[in-house]
Amino acid sequence: MPWNTENWIYNKAMPEKLRKILSEELIKRRIQELAQAIEKDFPEEPLVFIGTLKGAFIFLADLVRALSNRPLEIDFVRVKSYGLSDTSSGEVTITKDVEVSLEGKNVILVEDIVDTGLTLEFLRRHLALHKPKSLKVCALIDKRERRKVEVPLDYVGFSLEKGFLVGYGLDYAERYRHLPGIYEVIKDG
Ligand code: IMP
Ligand code: MG
Repeated sequence: MPWNTENWIYNKAMPEKLRKILSEELIKRRIQELAQAIEKDFPEEPLVFIGTLKGAFIFLADLVRALSNRPLEIDFVRVKSYGLSDTSSGEVTITKDVEVSLEGKNVILVEDIVDTGLTLEFLRRHLALHKPKSLKVCALIDKRERRKVEVPLDYVGFSLEKGFLVGYGLDYAERYRHLPGIYEVIKDG
């Protein structure tokens, strides 16, 4: 296999191989389009962006910088879900809540990746308790295969069927969040 091409990251110290599926340039272009869609829905209106830690930190940073200037607030939530290492069980708890007031505001929840949908379902209900004027969801990746609850996604970067992805904020056991592109983890075997 071509480990040494630009589409793979692999070395002997790594327990898995990474195959590039979304380049930095492609992600950048798509984020411009997402920002345009948000601008169309909310021309010049104040917005509150809520990122889910840690996975959405890079996506949120790029998304807000792709928007034209307007009153804009940023906050983060952090959730913990109990379950197997690579899937969530639906028992989701908040470990860091939002700190800005959402009441009467247009809120956009920014998620890195929607898998079963359980985390997002929980967060939508939770943020609704803060009485926003509107609540939209922007997900970088919609991963379809393991969806358990159908949650409405207003803005989607990329739709994929399956695969465990890392990079651009996404981790595998806290590794690879810093990679500028998005890679699929290929287990040895
Ligand atoms: P859900 O509750 O099953 O939709 O899981 C959503 C969360 O699981 C995401 O916010 C990620 O933190 C994590 N997750 C799901 N799939 C992946 C993946 O392919 N790579 C990295 N993290 C993932
Ligand atoms: Mg994670």
